[in-house]
Amino acid sequence: MTVAPIFPNPPGAAPRPVEEVPGPAGGPIAAMRLLRADPLAGLTRLRREFGPVVRLSSRPVSAFLVADPTAIGDGLVGSNRTHAKGAVRRGFGSSETVVQPLTMLLGQGLLTSAGEVHRRQRRLMQPLFHRQRIAGYGDTFARIADDTAATWRDGQRLDVHAEMTEMTLAIVARTLFGVDLDSEVIAVVRTAIDENMPAAGRARLPGFEAFERLPLPAPRRRRAARESLDRVVYDLIEARRTAGAGGDDLLSLLLSTRDADTGAGMADEEVRDEALTIMLAGHETTANALSWTFHLLAGDAEVAARMHAELDTVLADRTPSMDDLSRLPYTDAVFRESMRLYPPVWAMGRHLTEEREVGGYLLPAGSTLLFSQWVMHRDERWWPDPARFDPTRWLGASIGVGAAPPDQPRYSYFPFGGGPRQCIGNTFAHAEGVLALAAISRRWSFEPVAGIEIVPQPLVTLRPRDGLPMTARRRG
Ligand code: HEM
Repeated sequence: MTVAPIFPNPPGAAPRPVEEVPGPAGGPIAAMRLLRADPLAGLTRLRREFGPVVRLSSRPVSAFLVADPTAIGDGLVGSNRTHAKGAVRRGFGSSETVVQPLTMLLGQGLLTSAGEVHRRQRRLMQPLFHRQRIAGYGDTFARIADDTAATWRDGQRLDVHAEMTEMTLAIVARTLFGVDLDSEVIAVVRTAIDENMPAAGRARLPGFEAFERLPLPAPRRRRAARESLDRVVYDLIEARRTAGAGGDDLLSLLLSTRDADTGAGMADEEVRDEALTIMLAGHETTANALSWTFHLLAGDAEVAARMHAELDTVLADRTPSMDDLSRLPYTDAVFRESMRLYPPVWAMGRHLTEEREVGGYLLPAGSTLLFSQWVMHRDERWWPDPARFDPTRWLGASIGVGAAPPDQPRYSYFPFGGGPRQCIGNTFAHAEGVLALAAISRRWSFEPVAGIEIVPQPLVTLRPRDGLPMTARRRG
């Protein structure tokens, strides 16, 4: 087998054997203990102590933290071929394969499917995310942000994370599903996420599926929450079927699709998986990004003042529109910098389908690789004073959505992933995030609540563990 070199080993040098990959003394158990206690600090420490490739577990399945931008790029661009997504290993030490943790909630939609099914679904849905389509969503992004803020009172204590979650859900529903969700439906979606996200992280543990079927309170609550969510989505599908074809929203697109060979349409269950995937992937992450942005702004008066000054000059008292995006470089930079410090997707896994050189080591087929945005976005090799919230890192050059500054390696910053599995909603999310931030911040700012510590919780996404209680202050 030929091995593609991807790491700058000295010219001509052979890759080092897998046995030489460094890791903590005490082996996999020590690594796991570190990661279980605090995954964010644990991964950061492993990277600092052992370099860009670190062993997390050994045979039967070897798992590695990979913190080299070239190797991460190789892994993401090679998705579907050399670095597969999809099935993951049960526990780092096991050879048993289980489905993606999120499959429990999302079935086989775009985020969780693999191979030809994934390619077909991606092609089908791509038109919804074309630039021109997103340009048309701009007014809705800003209007729904305005509507959300219109319910606040000066001095009111809010859970900003809950507010952002409802807002981004309403935005996805209106732009991609063509509906306005009532508060009951929003509550069902939130309950399903809150109940199931923590469990999704445990889907790798032995006996998980059997445990989920037991008549115990927690699995029962999770099942009930998933069933309520299913009813909501099936109702949406039914309503769209009854209204007839012809719309240009996601459901119309899915319901009108025909298999090129058989002419058959998608089964309701397939439509459900896709719709639910877009509904959940399309709002949870953006809600986290905006929550962390307000958290950071509340802790840095200077950055907040500079952003507010830009908004006051450019917008005065009007609602921002898509055309304003290019006129708000500092607000845009605030959003990018917030996703650097608190990446809504904080780590992603791939496994090698063939033996391959990764970061100078020859790793066996079946190895699990962990790429962590949290680790890379705070690496002092590219980010001087990495913990500092400094939006000026992003000024002065035109930088693509989700891309690193031009003088840095491409995968030193990858909030939306990369390659064929790159976030399909990246342009949508960026425009939504900046416009919602602008629409809200032209009238409001938030103060932290004394005595409450905001703790990041790394589940599938990175959320504030106990919500984000803040005091709303009307500006001006
Ligand atoms: C700030 C907001 C967002 C962030 C940080 C984010 C991040 C990501 C990342 C890192 C991935 C790749 C996961 C992997 O390769 O394992 C991904 C995939 C995906 N995202 Fe997003 N996302 C955001 C917003 C959105 C929005 C608004 C939508 C839809 C409206 C969306 C829909 C999806 C879908 C469907 C996938 C799976 C794509 C595929 O596998 O082909 N995301 N997202």
